[in-house]
Amino acid sequence: MKIAFSPVALPKAGVVAVTVAAERALGAFGRDLDQRTGGLLTRAMESGRFSGKADEVLTVLAPTGVDSGRILLVGIGKPAEVTALTANSAGAVAVAGLVTSGETELSIAVDSHDGVTLPAAELAVEIAFGAASRSYRFDKYKTKTPAEKKPSLKKVTVLTDEAKAAKKAWDRQEKLLDGVFLTRDLVSEPGNIIYPESLAEHCLALKDLGVEVEVLDEKKMKKLGMGALLGVGQGSAHPPRLVIMRWNGGAEGDAPVAFIGKGITFDTGGISIKPAANMEDMKWDMAGSGAVIGLLAALAGRKAKANVVGVVALAENMPGGNAQRPGDIVTSMSGQTIEVLNTDAEGRLVLADALWYTQATFKPKFMVNLATLTGAIIVSLGNEHAGLFSNNDELAERLAATGKKTGELLWRMPLAPAYDKDIDSDAADMKNIGRPMTAGSIIGAQFLQRFVNGTPWAHLDIAGTAWAKADRGIVPKGATAFGVRLLDRLVADHYEG
Ligand code: BES
Ligand code: MN
Ligand code: ZN
Repeated sequence: MKIAFSPVALPKAGVVAVTVAAERALGAFGRDLDQRTGGLLTRAMESGRFSGKADEVLTVLAPTGVDSGRILLVGIGKPAEVTALTANSAGAVAVAGLVTSGETELSIAVDSHDGVTLPAAELAVEIAFGAASRSYRFDKYKTKTPAEKKPSLKKVTVLTDEAKAAKKAWDRQEKLLDGVFLTRDLVSEPGNIIYPESLAEHCLALKDLGVEVEVLDEKKMKKLGMGALLGVGQGSAHPPRLVIMRWNGGAEGDAPVAFIGKGITFDTGGISIKPAANMEDMKWDMAGSGAVIGLLAALAGRKAKANVVGVVALAENMPGGNAQRPGDIVTSMSGQTIEVLNTDAEGRLVLADALWYTQATFKPKFMVNLATLTGAIIVSLGNEHAGLFSNNDELAERLAATGKKTGELLWRMPLAPAYDKDIDSDAADMKNIGRPMTAGSIIGAQFLQRFVNGTPWAHLDIAGTAWAKADRGIVPKGATAFGVRLLDRLVADHYEG
């Protein structure tokens, strides 16, 4: 879908949408439109419950006095409460009903409403971002969609008094959107298409954006002593990979920030095999890696002034004649030995080596890892927040605050020595699970913490937020790309310039 910005004027064709503030408050453009249509907008609002609250939308079909086939009234709520997030969501509700409506063009007029503090250009850009984000579809494998069910909406133009400034600001947001869409594409692909080698190829494609990419194969990982990661991958016909992506947009010699993704391209559970019901969901067990790849694409695309390392730990967790057994003891790159009591607790194993490698190789300012690590985080936080675990209060607070700004919410959970001792093992330095039904997400985080070597670190458990079962605001159902907007903003607000 194409996004454009132009000055506020009545469009000659396509759908026209206009913002309405709380209590049915029309701005100058809305009042003019109301007059041209003989008071149709006022009557439409009065005929129902539409009052201009945020996320309300009212469609007026076949209006007289204008060329458009329909007029959309889009509520933005109280002007003083308009934020980037409410703007995102106004854009999303505007397009939601139009994507397959048969309409091809939409113009959204950002009207003048007294009391809005968000700068006009930003407001326009955030509306555009929400509209574009919501219009995403993953339908490349649907070959029989009848013409009348195919997406029809091709272009959204945001009408604003600050069209020029908006266009300029959009350049940056468009790169972010590219990153978000790349992540959604990768996470949506099934396990027969995305496996460690093919996902590594997608990482290599980032070279076109100026990202340095290095792919470690089994031989190299063996040499580095990555027994934990290799053990997870050994039961699969698709060999594991570790991919390192570097964007060097900052000052030379400035320590990088590092993002690490769990990339289990399919998680059967291995020999500790999962039940059949919903196992197909485990194609998105690489969502952490997907987010890291999309994030690097966004940062490189917008030429972020920061040094950034992205590391993705890629393996397919399969049962098989060569698969790792429950009880196996592996030696991680850190030298610490791990008793693998459950082969389904595999994410922490691949991350153990990826985290250790990252801190040892790059001495980063901090490491943030993203992982669909535990079903237990869904029990704790549902689909509203991702779990945040950290050994560093400043990093944790920055992440939580950035989550609130971007709508990718985080909730901090505890770490403590008392939990940590639950993974002490009789046979090795540690085991990969704790006690049944007991603090499962925290145990996963404690395990990871044993591999960060004191580096400031945060772990985001995104098992509940990586995939949406239903449309939700700016995110259509399916892969959400959770983390891309959050971490792009974290870098922008704290680690650039
Ligand atoms: N990938 C799963 C976690 C998961 C579950 C993600 C549901 C998304 C939806 C992870 O590898 C896993 O299997 N975790 C186990 C850990 C347990 C064996 C300690 C779990 O959560 O049951
Ligand atoms: Mn698992
Ligand atoms: Zn998993």
